[in-house]
Amino acid sequence: MSTLAKRWRAARPPVAGLHLDSAACSRQSFAVLNATARHALHESEVGGYVAAEAATAALDAGRAAVATLCGMPGAEVVFTTGSLHALDLLLGSWPAGSGTLACLPGEYGPNLAVMDAHGFEVRFLPTLDDGRLALDDAAFDLEENPPDLVHLTPVGSHRGTVQPLALMARLCRELQLPLVVDAAQALGQVDCAVGADVTYSSSRKWLAGPRGVGVLAVRPELMERLRPRLPLPQWAPALSVAQRLQFGEANVAARVGFSVAIGEHLAYGPELVRARLAELGGIARTLLADVDGWLVVEEVDEPSALTTLAPADGADPAAVRDWLLAERRILTTYADVGRAPQELTGPVLRISPHLDTTTEDLEAFVEALIAATAATSV
Ligand SMILES: Cc1ncc(COP(=O)(O)O)c(C=O)c1O
Repeated sequence: MSTLAKRWRAARPPVAGLHLDSAACSRQSFAVLNATARHALHESEVGGYVAAEAATAALDAGRAAVATLCGMPGAEVVFTTGSLHALDLLLGSWPAGSGTLACLPGEYGPNLAVMDAHGFEVRFLPTLDDGRLALDDAAFDLEENPPDLVHLTPVGSHRGTVQPLALMARLCRELQLPLVVDAAQALGQVDCAVGADVTYSSSRKWLAGPRGVGVLAVRPELMERLRPRLPLPQWAPALSVAQRLQFGEANVAARVGFSVAIGEHLAYGPELVRARLAELGGIARTLLADVDGWLVVEEVDEPSALTTLAPADGADPAAVRDWLLAERRILTTYADVGRAPQELTGPVLRISPHLDTTTEDLEAFVEALIAATAATSV
């Protein structure tokens, strides 16, 4: 096991079984768990609002780390409860109220629902057969018919294809189109430092922070133009747009924990983390290539730790996921078409190992998958 993998494993509680589900929710470290618990303890000792004030520096450091990882050094970063909440806040405050939006057909289903709820007219950009952005065609399309904003999800929930984020960011800059990036599956897994106009993400996935926290990073010029849904009443104190977006009750302890988690990520070295995650994806796909009843969706060398298995010959992803958990304590994801309703044609099984997963673990998964497929076939 590499030093990085050993450090990652030693930093958190022993796992009960085999955890191959970081794209849903990673395992938090002792340091993150302790920071979260310590903040709650402090709230009880000195009062919740005094404790929150005392945590200002830690929270600021967390926000600054987000801005750095997103390549948006000047960005204002607002804490949210997750990625979907971040998108909801953003679109609900969009300067013109709503407008036209271009995204990929593989867009995350709940995001499409939020876009629709805010009255955005969504159109899909051209893709190759595997759902990857067809950049030249997209450039033509965006130039001919510019939308009010481009929304890109560099890694979706339903497959590990990594979209050409940096090229898209450059294209949007050239065409002067605002680029909004859903980095829920990307931050901590692929390089997001492309300087988009907006980047939002979740704490609990590749950054291994607590649940119930997310972030919305916005370039200051755009932040100033956002119009938070709740108007500022005359009696209210003057608040910045970012403060208004973040207004309301929050689990400050979880935000403190997230700030520690992102600090740990920076300390591990984002490039090293990304390289190992991509390597793990490659190992998994190679081992899984010949398993009867399943087709590996991604290219072997796709630089992502997500591996998706599409059933062939009647394998049942939901039953297999349940069997693996019940019989072998192996945690995987069942993903139905709602994850990407314009692209997925049927449910899939997904694995998403984090740094301390070994080749032996992945071999054990392959063996268990074969048994699960046989046991659940009708
Ligand atoms: C690509 C993508 N976007 C958005 C989300 C929503 O994130 P959250 O549950 O933090 O709102 C997810 C969650 O799985 C996701 O995979």
